[in-house]
Amino acid sequence: MRLLVLATLISLPLGAQPGRYVKESAHAAIGDPQAIEEGRKLFLQSCAGCHGPDGTGGRGPNLVRRPLWHPLSDEAVFRIVQEGIPGSSMPPSGLSEDEAWSLVAFIHVMIGPAAENRTPGDASAGAEVFWGKTAGCSGCHAIHGRGCLLGPDLTNVGDRLPLAVIRQSILQPSDELYRIGSEGVQVRLRNGKEIGGIARNRDSYSLQVIDSAGNLHLIGMHEVAAIEISESSPMPGDYAQRLAGDELENLLAFLARQSLRSEDVTSR
Ligand code: HEC
Ligand code: HEC
Repeated sequence: MRLLVLATLISLPLGAQPGRYVKESAHAAIGDPQAIEEGRKLFLQSCAGCHGPDGTGGRGPNLVRRPLWHPLSDEAVFRIVQEGIPGSSMPPSGLSEDEAWSLVAFIHVMIGPAAENRTPGDASAGAEVFWGKTAGCSGCHAIHGRGCLLGPDLTNVGDRLPLAVIRQSILQPSDELYRIGSEGVQVRLRNGKEIGGIARNRDSYSLQVIDSAGNLHLIGMHEVAAIEISESSPMPGDYAQRLAGDELENLLAFLARQSLRSEDVTSR
């Protein structure tokens, strides 16, 4: 396993959510299937050349998993589409206002929270996959207090992540190190003790580590001699092969509905 020593990152605010998408525009195009379809075409014509057909980047940055720490919103994307980003190679699109909003509606689906967007797949069949022994998701993840807490709690995952990111988290868990806030860590204390597990909350003063037995260790940073952060996820990397037929789509539909904000709407 390759290890990466990230001493310089220790002061980052790790509770923060990188690249969050701020929701809610009152514009009628948002959520409108016709506008979304129109936007999809416009994206392929005008944006995919730089941002990739699925928005995951190329000459331009990855829009789905944005490495930048600032949030985007419908209005911000609209402005960027209209004006470009001065001083960079991101050009103004030259689209009409209606076209630009259709494009924003599509981007909202692509990079906005999964819970707000339609997902194909059967959520109740997906629930069986999630809680079932074969996939074993709940052996590491909890929803509403049920399951195990080694991996991140997924109670609100549909509201926190875009569908494409949930999909990628399942299929390529070690693909990118965007796991800040829940990395695999090996901590060596000044007294020589070693603690391995998942880092939960970390700031300049303290660190919480959950070990594989589920025990929580509260560690003061003044006690720490060294931290090694694992580059690969403890999550199994073979779900692309292990999930059969519709299981992945069903699981995604189930996870997309895990939202505290829109529970009443999505429990249908
Ligand atoms: C010629 C290449 C190119 C094209 C075409 C292009 N972009 Fe970009 N885009 C970029 C680059 C480069 C950046 C990063 C600019 C920077 O901040 O330095 C960017 C940034 C962005 C951002 C901001 C990302 C963030 O996290 O802040 C958005 C949103 C975006 N582009 C959307 C679009 C859309 C929508 C289209 C189609 C209308 C488009 N881009 C077309 C190159 C391009
Ligand atoms: C052996 C433990 C383990 C199993 C089994 C497991 N995961 Fe994970 N999962 C993790 C850990 C740990 C993370 C934290 C990020 C990382 O290290 O990749 C994670 C991350 C995730 C994320 C991203 C969560 C976030 O907040 O960023 C999702 C979604 C996810 N897992 C879903 C699943 C699903 C669905 C299954 C079953 C198909 C599953 N996991 C099985 C340990 C596990």
